[in-house]
Amino acid sequence: MCGIVGYIGDKDAYPILIEGLIALEYRGYDSAGIALVNESALTVFKDKGKVDHLRTQMETQTKLGTLGISHTRWATHGAPSYKNAHPHTNGNDSLAVVHNGIIENFEILREKLKKEGITFKSETDSEVIAHLVGKYLTNGNLGAAVRRALQDIEGTFGIGVISRDNPDVLIGARRGSPLVVGIGEKEFFLASDASAIVRHTKKVIYLNDNNLIELARGGYRTTTLDNRKISHKIHNLEFDADSLAKGGYDHFMLKEIMEQTNTIKNAMRGRVLCDEGTARLDGLNLVLQELRQINRIIFVACGTSWHAALVGEYMLEELAGISVEVEYASEFRYRNPIIDPHTLVFVISQSGETADTLAAMREAQRKGATVLGICNVVGSSIARDTHGGVYLHAGPEIGVASTKAFTSQLTVISLLTLLLGRMRRLSHDDGVTIAGALEAVPRQVAKIFKQNDEIKTIAHIYAPHNNFLYLGRSYNFPVALEGALKLKEISYIHAEGYPAAEMKHGPIALIDKDMPSVVIALRDSVYDKVISNIQEVRARGGKIIAIATEKDKEIQKHAHHVIYVPKTIPMLSPLLSVIPLQLLAYHIAAIRGCEIDQPRNLAKSVTVE
Ligand code: M6R
Repeated sequence: MCGIVGYIGDKDAYPILIEGLIALEYRGYDSAGIALVNESALTVFKDKGKVDHLRTQMETQTKLGTLGISHTRWATHGAPSYKNAHPHTNGNDSLAVVHNGIIENFEILREKLKKEGITFKSETDSEVIAHLVGKYLTNGNLGAAVRRALQDIEGTFGIGVISRDNPDVLIGARRGSPLVVGIGEKEFFLASDASAIVRHTKKVIYLNDNNLIELARGGYRTTTLDNRKISHKIHNLEFDADSLAKGGYDHFMLKEIMEQTNTIKNAMRGRVLCDEGTARLDGLNLVLQELRQINRIIFVACGTSWHAALVGEYMLEELAGISVEVEYASEFRYRNPIIDPHTLVFVISQSGETADTLAAMREAQRKGATVLGICNVVGSSIARDTHGGVYLHAGPEIGVASTKAFTSQLTVISLLTLLLGRMRRLSHDDGVTIAGALEAVPRQVAKIFKQNDEIKTIAHIYAPHNNFLYLGRSYNFPVALEGALKLKEISYIHAEGYPAAEMKHGPIALIDKDMPSVVIALRDSVYDKVISNIQEVRARGGKIIAIATEKDKEIQKHAHHVIYVPKTIPMLSPLLSVIPLQLLAYHIAAIRGCEIDQPRNLAKSVTVE
C-alpha cells in the first residue's frame, strides 16, 4: 500500500505529482505529501487525509520546482496524522524520502540513530531511511548514500529520494514493493504503478527487487543495490489515461461492474476453441508438457482472488479430475506445504503485487514448484516472477472492491478447466458445450443489468440492516463468501458468507427479523436442498433475498424478494450469480452514503504482509 510518484525534468513537477497521487489514491488515503527542490531549497508540503486536502493547501504556492517526490499513505507504523505523513526528512531537512513497505528492524535502527544524536519527528518506520541517507551522504553522492543506507535495512521498500544539495538527481530503489520508471522526452517519472504516469509517457521500465535507479536530467543509470550495473527492457504500456476515468459513472466500482460484459469477453478473446471444445492459453505454452503430467493444483491467493480460486476447486475437480487445494497466501508460507513433482502452484492476484501472495509464491518456488500466475496488472511482480501465466486483460481496476477482476478470474479458470479437462477425461461434446456456454456469458450478464432498478429498490428496503447472511452451496458457496465480502468492505455492514447447509451448525442462532439472508438458489442439483435451508431461515423470522434462475416461479413462494439470472451450466453459474450481489452491495453502500471507491481502512493493493 501507499503510493509514490516522483518527477525530474524540465516541467513544473507539482501538477504531475498531484495528478499522479490522485491516480494512486486507491493504494491508501490516510495522508498525502510532496517534497520539491527549487533553486537549492527543499520544501515539504503535507496534510492528513486525502490528496484533495493537500491540493487545497498547495493552491497558493508558486515556483515549485522541476524535481519532486510525493506520497499517499496507508498507515502501518504510526497513526494517520500530519507528522506521520510522508515525505520524511533528515535532521537538517536537506533531503526527503517517500517510502512504501515496512522496515522490519526500524526500532533497532531508531534507537541506534537516537544514540547518535538524531531527533525523530514522526512515529513511522520510514523516517529512519531519511536519517540513514543523511548520515551516509558524506561525499555529495546521493545514489551512493541511498545504496549504503539500504544495506542497514531489513524489510520491504519502494522509495524515492531527493536532496536540495543534489538538485539534478532523483533516486528510486525497491525490494518487495513495486516501482515503475517512466521515460519521457528530457524527463523521467517514478511511480508505484504505471497508472500515475501513463498520461505523460507510455515507455516504462519495471525495476526488479534490489535495483536502484539514478534519474538525472540527461539520462539514467540502473544498478543493483550492491552497485553492479544492469540494464532493463523498455516496455510499452498497453492502456491509456481514459481507462482511468469514471466515464460518467458516480463511482469506479459501478463503472467496473458495468464493464463486465466486455471484460469477460476480453478474458476469453482468442482463447476459446469452440469446434475443438477446448481452450488455448499461450502463457502456459512453456509448461504444456507439465500440465499433462500433474495430478494436483494448489491455488494461492487472498480476498476476492481466493474466492475465485475456491470456485476453481469445484470446476477442476469435477471436470478435469485434478485434485485442488486452495490456500490463503498469508497462511501458506507458515505451513510446510507438500509439493511433489506432480503438483502445480497457481498464484491468483488482480494487482500482482499483494505481499502475502508474493511471499507465498517465493516459498513455493523455494520448494522447487513450478509457479504460474493469473493476474491482471501487466508487468506486475507476480506476472514477471512466475514461470508463466495468464493475464485477465480486464483493464485497470480502481475501485477498492474487486468486481470485474473476479469475473475475469472465473473466466480464465474456466478456460484452464477446459484445457486441462480436455487433456484428461472431458469428452469433445462436453468441451463444446462448455465453450458455447462460456461465449454466451457476456450477453447473459448484460441481461442481469436490466434488473438494476429492481436491485436498487431491494437495496433501499434492506440498507438500514446491520447484519446479513449470505448462503450458497456447491459452485455458489464461494459466491456467497464474495457477496458478503463486497457488502462488508464498502458499506461496513457485518455480513457472513456460509455454505447454506452449514448455517444450521451455528449461524442460525443469529437469525431473526433484523438479519436478512441473501440466498443463491439456482435451478441446479442442490436446488431442493437450498429451498430447505431457506425454510429453516424463514421459520426463524428471517427475510430472504433469493438469486434465482430465470423463469423459476416456484422460488417466489419461498423468498421475500427475487433477483433472476439467466440459466447456464453449473460451473459457469458464479459468473452470473455474483453480478446481482455486486450491485446490491454497491446500492446499499451508496444509500448509506459510504465512500464506495475508497472504503475506510482499506487499500486496493495490499503490499504489506
Ligand atoms: O490484487 P489481489 O487480487 O492480490 O488482491 C487480493 C485482495 O486484497 C483483494 O481481493 C481484496 O480482498 C479486495 N478488496 C476485495 O474486494
